[in-house]
Amino acid sequence: TRVEFLDYEAVVDYGWSLDDDELFRKAGHADLGPDAHGRLLVHPDESLLEAAERSGFAWPFSCRGGACANCAVYLAEGELSQPTDHIMPEDLAERGFRLSCNGYPLTDELSVVFNVKQRPELDDLIL
Ligand code: FES
Repeated sequence: TRVEFLDYEAVVDYGWSLDDDELFRKAGHADLGPDAHGRLLVHPDESLLEAAERSGFAWPFSCRGGACANCAVYLAEGELSQPTDHIMPEDLAERGFRLSCNGYPLTDELSVVFNVKQRPELDDLIL
């Protein structure tokens, strides 16, 4: 699975919105560093977080077991599995929030914003 990723810090810095259809196009035109915007590959049986780490990126995490939301990402395109045993509430999942530590790609392409743990709606989930 090919993943295009974007750091939520950049979304904040540029005043962009997560639900902007043009978000990744805007990111492509901004002068962002390789850690903030780029692409990586997820191998079979690899979680999104594991793939980011293997690719040399330091994405946030803590428990690695679906219990804290520090690893939360926003899914702009594609689908990432959500195991049954996790902390993400249904309404946030419906809005595109997922956990990268136990999220496995279900589509060949994904666009994700990582580092979304600072979003206010995730405050209560962060341990
Ligand atoms: Fe805690 Fe993913 S690191 S839920």
